[in-house]
Amino acid sequence: MAKLKIPIEPYRIKVVEPIRQNTRPEREALLRRAGYNVFNIPADKVFIDLLTDSGTSAMSDNQWSGLMIGDESYAGARNFFNLEKTVRRIFGFKHVIPTHQGRAAERVLFGTILKKGDCVPNNIHFDTTRANVEFVGAEAVDLAGPQAYNPKSAAPFKGNMDTARLEKLIKSKGRAKIPLVMMTVTNNSGGGQPVSLANIRAVSRISRAHRIPFFLDACRFAENAFFIKQREAGCARKTVRAIAREMFSQADGATMSAKKDGLVNIGGFIALNDGSLAERLKNLLIIGEGFPTYGGLAGRDLEAMARGLEEVMDENYLEHRIRQVAYLGELLDAEGVPIFKPVGGHAVYLLADEFLPHIPRNRFPGWALTVALYREAGIRAVEIGGVMFGRKGEDGAEHWPKLELVRLAVPRRLYTVSHIQYVAEALVRLYKNRSKIRGLRIVHQAPQLRHFTVRMKEI
Ligand code: F0G
Repeated sequence: MAKLKIPIEPYRIKVVEPIRQNTRPEREALLRRAGYNVFNIPADKVFIDLLTDSGTSAMSDNQWSGLMIGDESYAGARNFFNLEKTVRRIFGFKHVIPTHQGRAAERVLFGTILKKGDCVPNNIHFDTTRANVEFVGAEAVDLAGPQAYNPKSAAPFKGNMDTARLEKLIKSKGRAKIPLVMMTVTNNSGGGQPVSLANIRAVSRISRAHRIPFFLDACRFAENAFFIKQREAGCARKTVRAIAREMFSQADGATMSAKKDGLVNIGGFIALNDGSLAERLKNLLIIGEGFPTYGGLAGRDLEAMARGLEEVMDENYLEHRIRQVAYLGELLDAEGVPIFKPVGGHAVYLLADEFLPHIPRNRFPGWALTVALYREAGIRAVEIGGVMFGRKGEDGAEHWPKLELVRLAVPRRLYTVSHIQYVAEALVRLYKNRSKIRGLRIVHQAPQLRHFTVRMKEI
């Protein structure tokens, strides 16, 4: 059995937000009304919400007090200059362009530099990143190595890109077709696994040799930097701040959803060194997001983001953060519940097909697990499997993604040890009674992104 070390919270509670447990018959009725889709359950009917770690974190007293000095001037608000100074200090890039969240940064960047027929390599594109690449008619290519898809390998940096495949892709497409190379840290769609500094350096070297700009999708950069400190040779004595600077020094720019490691409920930005590209990005920004010193945000949001970025560099916080998520994994693993290993930075991923071997892929075991978890304990998780990524091929047959997962994403600073223990207890109980969990069939679905609106029936 793994050693359990209680991940004690490095904060105390100043304001509380009540959460309520409803009854099982209530949850049963809610599920029926929701078409057995937990996206359709009102959030106040959820007891512990692990749908996402994005925008769901708790802000600090320091951030809340920052809201009061929000400068709501249309142009040149002081909070923008504070954000700019902070991003320059932590990321090291010259130009900072705020956006309302990460996908807006992607849209502005790709809408400016990509054209039809182009190609963007990444370790694994997150859904919105892929969607924004494809929206302009370009191709999103995932180049993570095979370790990324192996839930049993204990490799320390399963987010790494396969650099041989990157070289091959550049050779076959030609550099003119590849306006940028991207890398997602940590690799959300591959289990929240980190990328090593050595791999970032190698990808940077290849990109620079071909004069292709290299950008990081930096949503969870601080968690990635902390893993580097823990796992990469020669990094144990470096500060997370120094490691983050080293990561970004290898890149030409970054897109950021501050809803993750910015510790805010809304916000994002693009940061980069190329001044003439920054000017072009601002032209598109003004059309969709707003003036370049606010980019779709209020002045107070910019202030909260500037303060959150500083707070996320606190190594006591990061140690707790990574431990808390690992602790949930350890509690489950100790009871034999099948999980993706090693545990990533922001979530524990359940292996739903191993959890429910009696439910075939076309009866959606991952989805069935999210329904069972809500019914059993009022916990909301998200399926990352056959409903989200299953596709009908030209032959009419369903094609299934490699992995059938359920993500338990842990919001930052929001839940305590007892909440985590509650989630583990509920899952262990479900696992012991797993033979009673039933599969589902689809009764209504949308042509794209069907998981958001799909309606199901239990079999
Ligand atoms: N890139 C990555 C790696 C992400 O995980 C996300 C969001 C985005 C970009 C887009 O940022 O939401 O601010 O527009 N991930 C969330 C999640 C939604 O649940 O994993 P956004």
